[in-house]
Amino acid sequence: MNAIGLVVVIIGIIVMFYFFWPMIKGAPWVPTGMKKVRKMLALADLKPDEVLYDLGCGDGRFIVKAARKFGAKAVGIEINLFLYLWCQLIITILGLRRRVKIIYGNFFKHNLSEADVVICYLLPETNDRLEHKLIRELKPTARVISNSFVFNKLPIVSVDIDKGIYVYYARMENLL
Ligand SMILES: C[S@@+](CC[C@H](N)C(=O)[O-])C[C@H]1O[C@@H](n2cnc3c(N)ncnc32)[C@H](O)[C@@H]1O
Repeated sequence: MNAIGLVVVIIGIIVMFYFFWPMIKGAPWVPTGMKKVRKMLALADLKPDEVLYDLGCGDGRFIVKAARKFGAKAVGIEINLFLYLWCQLIITILGLRRRVKIIYGNFFKHNLSEADVVICYLLPETNDRLEHKLIRELKPTARVISNSFVFNKLPIVSVDIDKGIYVYYARMENLL
C-alpha cells in the first residue's frame, strides 16, 4: 500500500470511529449549543449533589456545566473513544475529577438507577429503544430532558416546541 492509500485507510478508520460507530449504537456526535445547554440544565432543576447523567456526553459540555454551575455530580457515558479521551482531559484540566465521572462504553449496558436527571440528545429510534430501560431503572423522582426528540411513553412535564426541549418524569406518580 502506498502513502496515499495508507492516509485514506486512516481517515476511513477515524470517520468510522467518529461517525458511523456511534450512529449505529445510538446517534452521531452533534453538540448541543451552549445556550440550549444552559436552558436544559435550568429546566432540570438540579439540586447540589444530585446526579446528572448525559447519555452520549460528546465533548462533555453538559456534565462540566452541571458540575460547575449547579454543584451536581455528573456522569457522562460516551462510546466514541476520541470524545471520551477529550472529556477526560477537560475534567482533569478543570479540576472536576471528584464530581465528574466519564465512562467509556455503550449506555445501554450501564445501570442508570443512581441518576436524578438524564440528558439525551439521540435519535427517535434510539429514544424508543431507551425508554423501557429508563422506566425500568430510574428512580420515581428522576427527570429526563431530551433535546429535539420525544419519548412516547414517559410522562411529559413540559415542552418547548420552538427550542425542541422535552422534559419528562420517569414515573407517572410524580405528575399527580
Ligand atoms: C447528538 S450527540 C450529543 C452529545 C452531547 N450530549 C450534547 O448534547 O452536546 C450524541 C452522542 O452520543 C454518543 N453515543 C451514541 N450512541 C451511544 C451509546 N450507545 N453509548 C454511548 N454513547 C453514545 C455519540 O458518540 C455522541 O457523542
